[in-house]
Amino acid sequence: MGQQQCSDWARSIRDPEAFASEQAALGQVWTLLGLTTDIPNDNDWIRCSLGGGSVFVQRFGNTIKGFENVCRHRFHPIRTAAKGSGLVRCAFHHWVYNQEGEAVGIPQCKKLFGTSPKELGARLRNVEIACCGLLIFGRFPRQATKTEDATSGEGSSSRCTTAAPSDTHQDQSLEEFLGDAWPILRAMCREGIRPGFITSDVNANWKLLYDITVDDYHAFAVHPTSLGRDGCLDPEKAYCPRFGPHSGFFFDGQSGDFSAMAQDCQANSYQPGAYRALNIFPSFLVFHYQVLHTWYVSITQLSPAALNRTIAKTWYYQAPFKRPGTSWLNLLFQRFIELWLPFFVGVFLRRITNEDYLICEAMQDAAGSMMKEPILGLEEQRIAWFREAYWDALARSNQE
Ligand code: FES
Ligand SMILES: [Fe+2]
Repeated sequence: MGQQQCSDWARSIRDPEAFASEQAALGQVWTLLGLTTDIPNDNDWIRCSLGGGSVFVQRFGNTIKGFENVCRHRFHPIRTAAKGSGLVRCAFHHWVYNQEGEAVGIPQCKKLFGTSPKELGARLRNVEIACCGLLIFGRFPRQATKTEDATSGEGSSSRCTTAAPSDTHQDQSLEEFLGDAWPILRAMCREGIRPGFITSDVNANWKLLYDITVDDYHAFAVHPTSLGRDGCLDPEKAYCPRFGPHSGFFFDGQSGDFSAMAQDCQANSYQPGAYRALNIFPSFLVFHYQVLHTWYVSITQLSPAALNRTIAKTWYYQAPFKRPGTSWLNLLFQRFIELWLPFFVGVFLRRITNEDYLICEAMQDAAGSMMKEPILGLEEQRIAWFREAYWDALARSNQE
């Protein structure tokens, strides 16, 4: 990575134009938008961000669809809250859209527009949606840029049991994009769980937050009391798989463990034995960890809200893996403890993440001084991988 690239790397952390162009490019990459547990019922929706803009994801029966959150009439946002339930109806002039994103209800259409809604052909810009377990991913189709006439887009959707449809111009389905992480995520994030949830509004660029999640060097310095020196995972005992633009941290792991874990998850026979983290490009991570006798899963989504602001959401729940056999008395005791665990896990996660976010906010203040290459040690190798994936994604976008 040369001097110029390093300078460019920090530019999107301090220059709104560079940030907007980076986000537009990353809007074409599969991005975690939310969880199916956020929209359990027909017509439930959530608002989220993609490609530097607002989008919303809505359930229509068993199907989940996504659209840019902009009315085709005069560009009022369709959704003006973080979540809700109901018809796709714009609050400004009450245009109503169907689940294909087509405007099907237009007040006084014939009189004011001289034609029927069908002939007018107005539609919302589609977001391609695919699910892996309860994880909902979305991306803008590459052929549909922000300047494209929204009336010409093709609809796309997914039932939450299959990979993305392959009839777009993009080259990878969600399953191909995730590689061996696909069966792992599907097993860790399977339907039926009821997660706890915390959210943080961080005054720092999303890349600084992602960097610290792939920084295997900082725990002893940033989390010495919350993790305890014994609790800090010794990176020398770690195996860090790299797969596509993603990476992982397997404590007590070795080469081959990633594929083995994928196979075990596929066969529904995986049993957690040590801390595992998967960092999925561009902006989410999932990890499992032990709390007393119980294994937990956390999913963290980093949503860029501005060049110096990121909304970080974390969902956490008891890992949905089979438990090893134990006596009924032990089981009863564990069940009693587990009633109280979510509260303590939430407090713990909030503390750990706040320690990280304080570092990121301080680094945001120094963004103007990031003109040289960082000095990366062995335990920061995944930061270099993240940067390579980032440049690769931007270059691919420019080729289109
Ligand atoms: S701007 Fe949405 S109906 Fe007019
Ligand atoms: Fe940390």
